[in-house]
Amino acid sequence: MKGERLDRLLARLGLGSRKEVARLVRAGRVRVAGEAVRDPGFHVPEGVSLELDGKPLAVRRHHHVLLHKPAGYVTSRTEGPSVYALLEGFPTRDLAPVGRLDKDTEGLLLFTTDGELLHRLTHPRHKVEKRYLVHLERPATREDREAFREGLVLEGKRLLPAELSWDQDPTRVELVLREGRFHQVKRMFQARGNRVLYLKRLSLGPLTLGDLPKGRARYLRSEEEEALYRAVRLFTDLLRGK
Ligand code: URA
Repeated sequence: MKGERLDRLLARLGLGSRKEVARLVRAGRVRVAGEAVRDPGFHVPEGVSLELDGKPLAVRRHHHVLLHKPAGYVTSRTEGPSVYALLEGFPTRDLAPVGRLDKDTEGLLLFTTDGELLHRLTHPRHKVEKRYLVHLERPATREDREAFREGLVLEGKRLLPAELSWDQDPTRVELVLREGRFHQVKRMFQARGNRVLYLKRLSLGPLTLGDLPKGRARYLRSEEEEALYRAVRLFTDLLRGK
């Protein structure tokens, strides 16, 4: 039969996993061309309207683009050289960065057209982990590790607990944060009397750079997209009708 399976199509539109959307369909909450359809395996002909709880579903998908940012680019539309110059061929007009990386910071920078996703990824409530590789002027200490774990106080604000680790060389460390304040990594080490010489973001929640070359960008794969929405519980909230 022609067309796309209803459960697959709804999952692709971002309404949940295949299992979650199948539940919506079985509950009779989805209409195809005005008719309630309760079979998740129903093949949806192209071009017909879809509704969830009587509200039309936008068939346009959001875009999410992963950039391996090199040093020397500014996370800004107006200042240059801009990271947007590295996104040629992507729908840059609607893509907003999920947090910022400083001009001299390298690594994973995500862009999305989904404002709610952006909000959740950057809000401390969701505690999305960001992992950084940090080269330091002086060796990190066990006391630094303790202070970060307890939650450093910066300008009167207590930070969320952060994990500092290293293998052999305590000037080459990894730091995991669950929030993203302005120049946070640099300010944390500065508060400990140290200085960041090199900074790279290695991951954001479930996303890593993999083998994406520096200076290049790509769309998220669907399993990455799904993992990202799950990390901020966007699927479950949508399903509860929030
Ligand atoms: N913390 C910083 O200090 N700079 C960055 O670019 C990212 C996190």
